[in-house]
Amino acid sequence: MALRLGDVAPDFSATTTEGPIQFHQWLGNSWGVLFSHPADYTPVCTTELGMVAKIKAEFEKRHVKVIAVSVDPLDSHHGWIKDINETQRCTMNFPIIADEGRKVAALYDMIHPNVDDKATVRSVFVIGPDKKIKLTLTYPASTGRNFVEILRVIDSLQLTANHKVATPADWKQGEDCIVSPTVSDADAQKLFPHGIRRVKPYLRYTPQPSA
Ligand code: BEZ
Repeated sequence: MALRLGDVAPDFSATTTEGPIQFHQWLGNSWGVLFSHPADYTPVCTTELGMVAKIKAEFEKRHVKVIAVSVDPLDSHHGWIKDINETQRCTMNFPIIADEGRKVAALYDMIHPNVDDKATVRSVFVIGPDKKIKLTLTYPASTGRNFVEILRVIDSLQLTANHKVATPADWKQGEDCIVSPTVSDADAQKLFPHGIRRVKPYLRYTPQPSA
């Protein structure tokens, strides 16, 4: 069955370009992003891995470890990394899982046979420090992902894990948040000292609570 939000992210052992890992142990207390690629030496994937390498510091700032998975062998990954570094003007700085046996792909339901019965789709799993799945995304092979959007979502996930707020459409770090519908007006006055803007009884804004 497909993995759902709130499920524990399946643990696995794997060979990666940075050595063997046990996934949960590798995550430790960090957040994690596990994302799949249809295959090595493919153009869109090359740009995606280069982009993540270039903005890895943004993930680190948020205590997020990133790891890619592709169903090709380790020597292929190492050769491909040279191309990624050359063409994307970056230095690969996070592991790629060599999932030749498609173990990780099967555990995370990354092969969608009505599209392709061998290559993975572009899956993204954001995993919390409790090892539970906080977000899933599925893109087709033909569409590269927007990793700035993934950082934006992580900001929202981390904020809403710690405060009784939700984030509105297109919200970005520093913008007003929505008071969680489960919070009464009376409690909201106490919880949000910077005040509440009440547009409707069910639509109440507050400045972003600080970390
Ligand atoms: C790519 O990464 O460029 C790609 C992979 C599979 C199908 C189409 C594009």
